[in-house]
Amino acid sequence: MQLAYEGKSKRVYVKNSEELVFEFKDEVTAADGAVRATALGKGALCASVSAHFFRVLEESGIETHFLDYDGSRRITARRLDMVPLEVIVRNFSYGSLLKRMPLYRELEPLDPPLIELHYKDDSLHDPLVLPEDVLRTKILSAPELDELVGRSASANRVLVRYFESLGLKLVDVKFEFGFDARRRLVLADEISGDTFRVLDERGRHLDKEVFRKTRRIEDLLEAYRELASRLGLRV
Ligand SMILES: Nc1ncnc2c1ncn2[C@@H]1O[C@H](COP(=O)(O)OP(=O)(O)O)[C@@H](O)[C@H]1O
Ligand SMILES: [Mg+2]
Repeated sequence: MQLAYEGKSKRVYVKNSEELVFEFKDEVTAADGAVRATALGKGALCASVSAHFFRVLEESGIETHFLDYDGSRRITARRLDMVPLEVIVRNFSYGSLLKRMPLYRELEPLDPPLIELHYKDDSLHDPLVLPEDVLRTKILSAPELDELVGRSASANRVLVRYFESLGLKLVDVKFEFGFDARRRLVLADEISGDTFRVLDERGRHLDKEVFRKTRRIEDLLEAYRELASRLGLRV
């Protein structure tokens, strides 16, 4: 298979004109890519968790790009025309939100969830943009933007309830979407500890925050194994 793109966390291969294979890498980055390490087994853990959540979302009627997962580091998915935005849905204040708006206290509940749009551009550090920026630059039409935001809120709701049923708290989550051949918006990319923050009963992170804080790959792997085992996945 031909390598089409190598990103920070995945290699993307072209399977055929309609399907891609995402190979989840063992590399982990923090501080905007300035800190890098290899955590053997992380790729498989993130692929497995992602596949699990795509199935959960599909069962709740949310269309995703997911097609197949064989238990390895690789997920097969539909090839989409990606929207160059990251949608961040925040249920509790944390991370960059506290820097952007210091009047929030850490882990303050945000109800209804706060939805941010970021323009996906590494060299600009994925800047926050306004809905109006998205419309004026014609990234999306007004109905498409409404749909993107509504879909993100729905997907977040499903995940919040799912984590709650396991005694876990979804702090925030990042979504990416793409258009299929019929120009319908479909949830894409990945849904894993690299793209959400989740706290356990004792307030411990079961996500990449562990690595951002300690920079220790063993701590990260332990958190990711714990997350997978909470989800009932083989680790
Ligand atoms: N279904 C899809 N079709 C096409 N591209 C996708 C799809 N899902 C995700 N992508 C893109 O594939 C890349 C995945 O690799 P990743 O390592 O996450 O890259 P990045 O460092 O750019 O975030 C991202 O650029 C993402 O936007
Ligand atoms: Mg990415």
